[in-house]
Amino acid sequence: MAYSDKVLDHYNNPRNVGALDKKSENVGTGVVGAPECGDVMKLQIEVDGDRIVDAKFKTFGCGSAIASSSLATEWVKGKTLDEALSISNTEIVQELSLPPVKIHCSVLAEDAIKAAVNDFKAKRATTAQEQSAK
Ligand code: FES
Ligand code: FES
Repeated sequence: MAYSDKVLDHYNNPRNVGALDKKSENVGTGVVGAPECGDVMKLQIEVDGDRIVDAKFKTFGCGSAIASSSLATEWVKGKTLDEALSISNTEIVQELSLPPVKIHCSVLAEDAIKAAVNDFKAKRATTAQEQSAK
């Protein structure tokens, strides 16, 4: 199976590899795994107000999973939380021209974005509760 040029580009020059401070209250972390193959993706976002200002990822997986997460970090930057939640794996599939057997790799990226946003929202809710309890 041949990887598309865009997959190879992201695979060879992944954008935004790394980690953000998991403990920071402005950071949301999503860790998801693919039952199909055991690959794992971690995606983190840094949020200012309602907007994602930074994103990082680490993926232990195939080239398509790495490319999907690299693309996902590029796409979420500058988006609001709701806009990021609306990114769907089919957009990733189209952008990277993923073949059917690699669709679950893009699902991983969509799930990782959602997990990171939800983690951030849960954190913010707890912080708000703590502040109102003071
Ligand atoms: Fe081997 Fe994903 S199945 S890297
Ligand atoms: Fe399993 Fe790509 S994430 S093969």
